[in-house]
Amino acid sequence: MLAGKRILLVIGGGIAAYKSLLLIRLLKGAGAAVTPVLTRAGAEFVTPLSVSALAGEKVHQALFDLTDEAEMGHIQLSRVADLVVVAPATADLMAKLATGRAEDLASTLLLATDTPVLMAPAMNVRMWQHPATQRNLAMLLADGVRLVGPDQGEMACGEFGPGRMAEPEAILAAIEAALSDGPLKGRHVLVTSGPTHEPIDPVRYIANRSSGAQGTAIAAALRDLGAEVTFVSGPASVPPPAGVRVVRVETAQQMLAAVQAALPADAAVMAAAVADWRVANQGAQKMKKDGSGRAPALEFAENPDILATVSKAAARPRLVVGFAAETEHVVDHATAKRARKGCDWIVANDVSPQTGIMGGSENAVVLISDAGAESWPRMGKDQVAKKLALRIAEALQNS
Ligand code: C5P
Repeated sequence: MLAGKRILLVIGGGIAAYKSLLLIRLLKGAGAAVTPVLTRAGAEFVTPLSVSALAGEKVHQALFDLTDEAEMGHIQLSRVADLVVVAPATADLMAKLATGRAEDLASTLLLATDTPVLMAPAMNVRMWQHPATQRNLAMLLADGVRLVGPDQGEMACGEFGPGRMAEPEAILAAIEAALSDGPLKGRHVLVTSGPTHEPIDPVRYIANRSSGAQGTAIAAALRDLGAEVTFVSGPASVPPPAGVRVVRVETAQQMLAAVQAALPADAAVMAAAVADWRVANQGAQKMKKDGSGRAPALEFAENPDILATVSKAAARPRLVVGFAAETEHVVDHATAKRARKGCDWIVANDVSPQTGIMGGSENAVVLISDAGAESWPRMGKDQVAKKLALRIAEALQNS
């Protein structure tokens, strides 16, 4: 799939640099050529010898290298590739590119290149969450930089949270998506998926049975057509697809904030089963039986409607797609929902128990749009996802 493609791989200074050695092997295995660039800090974690031995090419390290300049100037070096990949992308490299600094070979190449850039951030969770990094990230995304990861999990520094570099397989999938000539190449699509969890107290929550299967299949299908996908997921029971930017949330309020932070997007597909209500009188401590036999009274507050909010947003995606799970009068209810929420399409389905759709692998949907209601035959959720992704690509091409 990557035969004939050249990747300029910038390896920054982080413990995740060892994963970049695996990435080089995967890239070579997929038929790509790799031009490696190692920053000074990167060379503290992996050796130039390992990098060049795996890449089968010279590793570039210094901005003022007479031999390099005689053979191929750094400006030219920045343009030989089909894609520039920064892995690990440290907070420092992100800050340099966001603010246009060019003080070493890596930052100069990033500023001089006219080739798309894909970053795989890796840093301590606090560094990732710091407002400065998030500001830089927003600027980089607005400049068209693509992102893979970071993942959430145990970190080398002993802390837990977002900041782990995406796994080499996921970076490879993102590289393939970035280089694919699919109809969604260069488009950013936002997908919400999974249930939300609404806490009752620190140990209990209210949830629903959404598995996240349909949303995950849609994100993968959009990725396969070349889209850059931001996947905002509640606690789903199926794992997120590789090669998309995953933002994990728990509550509806967190999902709304994550969705707003991910805009602008060309299209949004809101497949999440968002809880309509949250507990207004959440316990700060675990609620206890008091021996009186009286059950606690939960009070509820209405959650924000994410689909309706995005449909009205100043940065509204050109195409907003909502879902409607109904148990009767599917077309009538979904048509009314489309008008009420202000979205462009509603993908409606009948989830009454006898259909076996909820939690099953098949789906039978009706697509409601300006043009009316179009029934699709019953098919696998993956097929529904592929068909929907193609329709989204068509709609974006025609608008
Ligand atoms: O109102 P209802 O839940 O039936 O609408 C379903 C659609 O609205 C889905 O696309 C779902 O993702 C979205 N939704 C939302 N925020 C809510 C409730 C639903 O985005 N609070």
